[in-house]
Amino acid sequence: LTDRGKRVPLDNSPLQIFVKAKKKINDIFGEIEEYVKDTVEYMYEVEKEGKIVNKDQVRNIVEYVGKVHSIRDVLQRDHMKVAFFGRTSNGKSSVINAMLRDKILPSGIGHTTNCFLQVEGCPSDEPYLVLEGSEEHCAVESVGQLAHALCKEKLNESSLVKVFWPKNRCLLLRDDVVFVDSPGVDVTPNLDEWIDKHCLDADVFVLVANAESTLMVTEKNFFHKVSTKLSKPNIFILNNRWDASASEPEFLDQHCNEQEEVRKQHQERAIDFLVKELKVCTPKEAEERIFFISAKEVLQARMSEGKPVSVPLTEGFQTRYFEFQDFEKKFEECISKSAVKTKFEQHSQRGKFIANELRDLLEGIYNDALKLKEQKLSERKEVNDKINYTEQQLMLVTQEMKKKIHNMVEDVEQRVSKALSE
Ligand code: GTP
Ligand code: MG
Repeated sequence: LTDRGKRVPLDNSPLQIFVKAKKKINDIFGEIEEYVKDTVEYMYEVEKEGKIVNKDQVRNIVEYVGKVHSIRDVLQRDHMKVAFFGRTSNGKSSVINAMLRDKILPSGIGHTTNCFLQVEGCPSDEPYLVLEGSEEHCAVESVGQLAHALCKEKLNESSLVKVFWPKNRCLLLRDDVVFVDSPGVDVTPNLDEWIDKHCLDADVFVLVANAESTLMVTEKNFFHKVSTKLSKPNIFILNNRWDASASEPEFLDQHCNEQEEVRKQHQERAIDFLVKELKVCTPKEAEERIFFISAKEVLQARMSEGKPVSVPLTEGFQTRYFEFQDFEKKFEECISKSAVKTKFEQHSQRGKFIANELRDLLEGIYNDALKLKEQKLSERKEVNDKINYTEQQLMLVTQEMKKKIHNMVEDVEQRVSKALSE
């Protein structure tokens, strides 16, 4: 019924689009860093000569070392972020737990989420949490303990607690997905603060609605605010607790038809909300963003995988389970494509700009060096020409002199021998 056993690492998972792009851009920036460092070393050498490069040019290039280094820092920490919102008790924490395949976040009565909780992967084998404004790692062994730690702290509802969960226990966390759970949108007057603090860098939003009722004004208002601050946010709508409507007594009688009607109505309203009200997608896209699921069932099924006692199943469980898997697939595709664009596009432009700047600068130095060389050569040629001319003149004069002396000697000899014979 379920995808039994642990999910094997599937490297054709849509999340790999982001994972691979992240590796690639990190490698490229590694090369750019080397390239900048080499250039700086070379510039220092050339600057010592004092002819082609001046101190300002060197200083400009040295600044790139810091810039590239901080981009690399950001790139290494980049992740895909999904934030869950909805009215209280709709099952936000349950959906996250179902996706993470473990009871990580407290949920249910007495475990209401009263501040923002961010779950992200950590390389260590033990989970821990970090409160806002603190660096301290607090160990958590169980959900109960986590809930207790959160209650004890009397946290502000807008504050953020980070839960670090071992990457080796969950594929989504291994692949750099970060989950943000929130308190119910109906319990706060601070929606603007929430959005500014927690939403501006989210790649995907999931509205966890209650399939037993229609979308509420508070839920809609929240997303209206989000879409004024972000251009075309990616929003999924999960009609959760779909199992509960399956077991409604009136549905049990005439069953399928009634439930189909309710589904159609919810679907139409949700499409209208995304397409006509928020204007964030087309009707066709909206159909791929709305799902009817039961987080509670999926979590139960996944937690009992491999255990001998299996949970009793409600009518329609399998269909709802498949729909949850379908949501996960569409979600993975959407988040990884969107994150590649929002997280890497700007950096790759910046990388190109830096590489071009360096190339132009080095080309400039090369051209200046060529000019200097040509100048020296032509200077040398002028001197050589002068020397040649003088040498030629000297030769001519010498030859002339030789001739004259020769003639003179002959003349003297003739005259001497004439005088002697006389
Ligand atoms: P707050 O943190 O208080 O805002 O609530 P939440 O939205 O995180 O809801 P939570 O996950 O805590 O779930 C509330 C209750 O609903 C829990 O008792 C869950 O077991 C139950 N629940 C969650 N999802 C489902 C579902 O799909 N079907 C049914 N029947 N119950 C569910
Ligand atoms: Mg909750």
